Amino acid sequence: MLLAKRLKSDFLPYFRKFTLRLRPEITHTHYTRRLLHQLQHSIFSMKKVFQFFLAVGLFIPFCGFSQSSIVPFPYTFQKEITCDSAVVVTAHPLATKVGLDVLQKGGNAVDAAIAVQFALAVVYPQAGNIGGGGFMLYRDKLGNSYCLDFREKAPNAATEKMYQDSLGNVLAKKSQFGALACGVPGTVDGMWEAHKKYGKLKWGELVMPAVELAYRGYQITAAEAQDLNEERILLAKNSSLTPALVKMDDWKSGEWLIQKDLAETLRRIAGNGRDGFYSGATVTLILREMDRKGGLITAEDLSNYHSVWRKPLEFDWKDLHVVTMPPPSSGGIILRQLLAMIGEYPLKSYGIHSAEAVHVMVEAERRAFADRAVFMADPDFFKVPVKKLTDLDYINKRMASFKPDSASQSIGLTAGAIKESEETTHFSIVDAEGNAVSITTTLNDSYGCRTVVGGAGFLLNNEMDDFSVKPGTANLYGAIGGKANAISPNKRPLSSMTPTIISKAGKTVMVLGTPGGTTIPTTTFQILVNVVEFGLTLPEAVQAKRFHHQWKPDVISFEDGCLSPEAQISLEKKGHVLNPRGPIGRMEAIIRLPNGKWQGVADNRGDDAAAGY
Ligand code: DON
Repeated sequence: MLLAKRLKSDFLPYFRKFTLRLRPEITHTHYTRRLLHQLQHSIFSMKKVFQFFLAVGLFIPFCGFSQSSIVPFPYTFQKEITCDSAVVVTAHPLATKVGLDVLQKGGNAVDAAIAVQFALAVVYPQAGNIGGGGFMLYRDKLGNSYCLDFREKAPNAATEKMYQDSLGNVLAKKSQFGALACGVPGTVDGMWEAHKKYGKLKWGELVMPAVELAYRGYQITAAEAQDLNEERILLAKNSSLTPALVKMDDWKSGEWLIQKDLAETLRRIAGNGRDGFYSGATVTLILREMDRKGGLITAEDLSNYHSVWRKPLEFDWKDLHVVTMPPPSSGGIILRQLLAMIGEYPLKSYGIHSAEAVHVMVEAERRAFADRAVFMADPDFFKVPVKKLTDLDYINKRMASFKPDSASQSIGLTAGAIKESEETTHFSIVDAEGNAVSITTTLNDSYGCRTVVGGAGFLLNNEMDDFSVKPGTANLYGAIGGKANAISPNKRPLSSMTPTIISKAGKTVMVLGTPGGTTIPTTTFQILVNVVEFGLTLPEAVQAKRFHHQWKPDVISFEDGCLSPEAQISLEKKGHVLNPRGPIGRMEAIIRLPNGKWQGVADNRGDDAAAGY
């Protein structure tokens, strides 16, 4: 009886406080009654008393880290927002909220980006990640630009022909599914580096919202439920222990997804920083998964991983200054080439999505992607001729063969299927001081290689598929490459990710980026052209339908409703092959309006949401 009294007076108020914070939908009265009932029954059983202490102990670490408020379900997917001070746009309302909370607590754009990156690893497992990599572009309030490459690297034991059999046949599934497809993850190191240099709030404070989301769970949207149901078999098959993402029956919209193992991994990262991932218990668990599932990553691969600060790719376009991603992304060079190649053509008078405008843009895309296949790769392994590829004379010569009435031919056409659903994610943030962050981050394919590290609860990437597994063989995105992008130990695979920040007269005016594999640079290109050439507002530009060409396969793929029947007939007459397809990209963008306010726009192709103040 004494023990029961002590428990009640000492712990009940705390327990109630923590649990209420974690499950706000349960009322005080309900909890008090349940707890008293539990206590009355537990005084006779030491086991139950022990369990009670354990439960209290597990909640203590959350003390002081709880989100300042909870986002009610069903979520509001705020697609547009106009604010005086700061904006966050991400692929998920809960991640957007985490970023906003950090900014409102006095964190800067880098702090908010770190918190969003970790939150997305929980609430958007398709692409948000700690087992993948990405690129960060940061433009500070003084106009200095920085670029952080935290892309995955090939394990030290990787070999050029590791995805070919003895006859040279490509084993496509091996570069896409299971632990062998996985590059050494770079995300945690990237966030740690960014925080060391530019973070303001404490590291642990930025990771804890993700711990909490994983530990107490969150309610999944209809789109997430559908994705998880579609991937159930692949996730179960490629993971050695059944992950929290897999359920025997169907996930439904509004169900709680609780990821305890992931919470523990994130807690190690919150407490130990980089070491919480690249040494200790997390490494042990990764190595076990590698053993069980035949992956190549070793403890040395993990401890040797380091992200790299690179010089951003910068160029002027009209009265704008563009800061974007250099190699190992092809995205920045492609964007530079595309914007320069359309320079002379009166797109506005042709009209948006007219056959004439699409023809010019597509012919530019064809040429830029032909260069990608040969000249672009990890600059630490291959001398990418960036200067030449971005030189105006060179670019103009490339466009000299353009004919207004007929399509050029991408000879040697190889059919590379472009998948309907591809997953990477982008987020854009500006803070109240005018610092801007643009991050594109990925596991490559949706849910990466579908392997969840047993006991650690996070998904591994399948970024090895971004290498050219054999010259001339198309990857997941139909991209073809050669020697430059061949697999080599510790090399980074060529990317298309194009986080971009635009300034005008020294002031940041746009922050943008998108997922979409090879459609990333062409989507970024279209948003800029929609705003600058066609004069659309940012919401109109982002929600407008899109099209894409990438040299090979020699087709224009386009979203339903993008091209009118007349435009389609006219393009076909010029010799283009048309290929309707599903959504292209998910743009998260911010613009400074003429009145000085920030406008955030989240793509309506997904659960994306903007917020700000
Ligand atoms: O780095 C790249 O280009 C690819 N791994 C990106 C994959 C991607 O965008 C998938 N998403 N939609």
